[in-house]
Amino acid sequence: MMSTAKWSPALLLGYAPMDDEHRAFAVLLARAQDASDQDLPQAWANMVAHTEQHFGSEDDGMLSTGYPSSSQHMLEHRVVLNLMREGLEQAGQGQLAPVRQMARELWSWFLRHTQSQDAALALHLRRTRHGEPTTTM
Ligand SMILES: [Fe+2]
Ligand SMILES: [Fe+2]
Repeated sequence: MMSTAKWSPALLLGYAPMDDEHRAFAVLLARAQDASDQDLPQAWANMVAHTEQHFGSEDDGMLSTGYPSSSQHMLEHRVVLNLMREGLEQAGQGQLAPVRQMARELWSWFLRHTQSQDAALALHLRRTRHGEPTTTM
């Protein structure tokens, strides 16, 4: 099912620092999706903490290499992270339904984002940080 978080090698982008973050994202989101009501707030807090780090390191990569599409990509990060933080606040007040819904929807967002914004960024970072030729692919 499209909404069930599950890591797959098909998600690999060929840039290890991003692939590692994405594997962790899938694992933590799967835990949040499967969490009991009692465990959900902590599982979501783990998800938010991971995502701050994951998006933050992509944002740093864009800024430090002068990535041309950074504003659109960073905007997507900011919007999603803000929603996740709102969810965390709601979960802290005992409102779990919005977080449950977000946990389902976040996986399809992630698949789209990874295959578009992140795929382009991974290619850019491989080239600029590892000197791969820009004429191939
Ligand atoms: Fe990412
Ligand atoms: Fe991203």
